[in-house]
Formats: sequence, structure tokens, C-alpha cells
Amino acid sequence: MHDQGKVIAGIVIFLIVVLFPIWYTGAFGDFTPPNLDPVTDAKECVKDKATMTAWHMDLLNEWRNDVVRNNDRGPVLIAGKEWEKSLTRTCLGCHGSYRKFCHKCHTYADVKPDCWQCHVVPEER
Ligand code: HEC
Ligand code: HEC
Ligand code: HEC
Repeated sequence: MHDQGKVIAGIVIFLIVVLFPIWYTGAFGDFTPPNLDPVTDAKECVKDKATMTAWHMDLLNEWRNDVVRNNDRGPVLIAGKEWEKSLTRTCLGCHGSYRKFCHKCHTYADVKPDCWQCHVVPEER
């Protein structure tokens, strides 16, 4: 019986080690965003919502490289309409408010993109 304490301690340590990655992913990796109004009448984004939530920064990098390195400004087809590869004219042209959409989520996620020293946030709806 005197080993019971050790056994319980062993089980607790075992569970911490096994569950840590799950807890860790839940807290930081598999980020659950707040419920946001995309501030647009459009029904579709560049890609499906889950892809956009997780990968929009990579898409922006891709667009920037296409434009700056290859002078490839698109067009990109979104819901049958042509858009250029532009952070301000396209992303913020359709999402009517940086503050109410992008920034709201970034504040929540504690992300501070430094794009706005050069790119200008358009007038907000
Ligand atoms: C030091 C200044 C600077 C910073 C900071 C910067 N950019 Fe740019 N970016 C530029 C310039 C200059 C261009 C070229 C503009 C053109 O040719 O239309 C450009 C072009 C782009 C383009 C393609 C053209 C367009 O109209 O959007 C994208 C997308 C882009 N940047 C995304 C970003 C993102 C995302 C960030 C932040 C993570 C960022 N940039 C930060 C200067 C900057
Ligand atoms: C033609 C309009 C349109 C354009 C252009 C557009 N979006 Fe979207 N975006 C939407 C809509 C509509 C949704 C919501 C989709 C849904 O609910 O299925 C959305 C969803 C998103 C989401 C997910 C939001 C969430 O609640 O998780 C992100 C992030 C996003 N967009 C970023 C961007 C970025 C970055 C760009 C430019 C590269 C962009 N969008 C361009 C219309 C657009
Ligand atoms: C649903 C939440 C959400 C929305 C909405 C959202 N973002 Fe983000 N964004 C994030 C998260 C989380 C990160 C950090 C991802 C990482 O570090 O892996 C991020 C990162 C970025 C980055 C890269 C920042 C860096 O310093 O590397 C850029 C650029 C960016 N977002 C632009 C936008 C723009 C523009 C919009 C609006 C059109 C937008 N985001 C909307 C959650 C969001």
C-alpha cells in the first residue's frame, strides 16, 4: 500500500507528459479565432475560410513576391470577379475595415504586422 502515492504520482506525471502536446497545441497552435464579421457583402474569400484563417500571411507573402519579384499582379479570380494581387486594394478593398476585422483578430492573437509603415490602410467603412 505504501507505494500507492508513488503510483498516483507516476500516473499524474505520465498524463502530463502525454497530454502536454495536446494542451500546448490547443493553446497556441490550433488557434481558435474570435467570431468576426468580415465587413463585406461578399460570400467568398481568396480561398476557403479555414485556409484563410490559418494561411493568410503566407498568401500575402506569395502575392508580394509575385508582384515585387516577378511583376505578376494577377488577376486572381474570386467568386467570378477579377482582383489584383494587392494587400490594400484587394484584401482591404473587399474587407471594408482593417480596424474591425484584421486588427480585431490580431489584437486577440497578439500579432503586430509591421506592414503599415509603408502600406496605407484605406478609408474605413
Ligand atoms: C519597407 C516598406 C514596406 C513594408 C514594411 C511592407 N511592404 Fe509590402 N510593399 C512595399 C513596396 C514598395 C511594394 C511594391 C508596391 C508596388 O509595386 O505596387 C510592396 C508590395 C506589396 C504587395 C503586392 C502589391 C500590393 O499592392 O499590395 C503585397 C501583397 C505586400 N507588399 C504585402 C506586405 C505585407 C503583408 C507587409 C507586412 C507584413 C508588407 N508588405 C510590408 C513596401 C513595404
Ligand atoms: C472578394 C472579397 C474578399 C477578398 C478580396 C478577400 N476576402 Fe477575406 N474573406 C472574405 C469573406 C466573405 C470571408 C468570410 C468567408 C466565410 O465566412 O466563409 C473572408 C474570410 C477571411 C478570413 C478568415 C476570417 C475568420 O473569421 O477566420 C481571413 C483571415 C481573411 N478573409 C483575410 C483576407 C486577406 C488577407 C485577403 C487578401 C489576401 C482577403 N481576405 C481578401 C472576403 C474577401
Ligand atoms: C481570424 C483571425 C485573423 C484575422 C481576421 C486576420 N488575421 Fe492576420 N494573423 C492572424 C494570426 C493568428 C497571425 C499570426 C500567425 C503566426 O504568427 O503564425 C496573423 C498574421 C498576419 C500577418 C503576418 C504578421 C507577421 O508579423 O508576420 C499579416 C501580414 C496579416 N496577418 C495580415 C492580415 C490582414 C491584412 C488581415 C485582414 C484582411 C488579417 N491579417 C486578418 C490572425 C488573423
